[in-house]
Amino acid sequence: MTHVFTIAIDGPAGAGKGTLARRLADHYRLNLLDTGLTYRAVAYALIQHALPLDNVSAAETAARQVNLANLDRAVLSAHAVGEAASKVAVYPTVRRILVEKQRDFAKTPPGAVLDGRDIGTVVCPEADIKLYVTASAEVRARRRLAEIESIGGTADFTEILADIVRRDERDMGRADSPLKPAADAHLLDTSEMAIEAAFLAAMAIIDDVLAKRDKA
Ligand code: C5P
Repeated sequence: MTHVFTIAIDGPAGAGKGTLARRLADHYRLNLLDTGLTYRAVAYALIQHALPLDNVSAAETAARQVNLANLDRAVLSAHAVGEAASKVAVYPTVRRILVEKQRDFAKTPPGAVLDGRDIGTVVCPEADIKLYVTASAEVRARRRLAEIESIGGTADFTEILADIVRRDERDMGRADSPLKPAADAHLLDTSEMAIEAAFLAAMAIIDDVLAKRDKA
């Protein structure tokens, strides 16, 4: 059987996982899945149908209909959709449906970089490389503000920070698949690190694992 290579990237909202995942997928020529988009797609479907986010059976139906090849980042990236996603993400049945799709994606050769909250712990516990990317809540809020301002928007730092803290609490505090580093994850704190430095640090970790494997 050909070995598919898996890189699992977990961490809180705004830590820089997405950019890092994209850079690594390009560099190592792997498929890429932002699993957050799958939870966002479920939340978006409920919002579109004016259904409450705690309608679990509607969320399950929406989860079954999620098509990984057809996730529209432009539509799903809205802040409110992210908030809503973290509410539907607490339901174990919804998670099970999405996790199955994510695992199938990971198994497709030549392998994939997946980023999310539970990749190293639940979705791909056998991943070749696990990274846990984090940054202080203040730094993440400052980055988010800069991002909004760079596209001509305005926002309040204190509100953004409060949102980030609330989302962290929801993601880390839920009973099913809470956000936490896998025991064998490499920690990457990007608080004081630009994305290029984080990419280089991740590459060093991955190349080291690959070199050791070649020797074994
Ligand atoms: O990463 P992103 O902000 O797009 O994720 C939106 C929400 O989806 C997260 O706050 C989290 O609650 C949920 N999520 C999850 N497990 C994942 C990815 C995202 O629970 N693997």
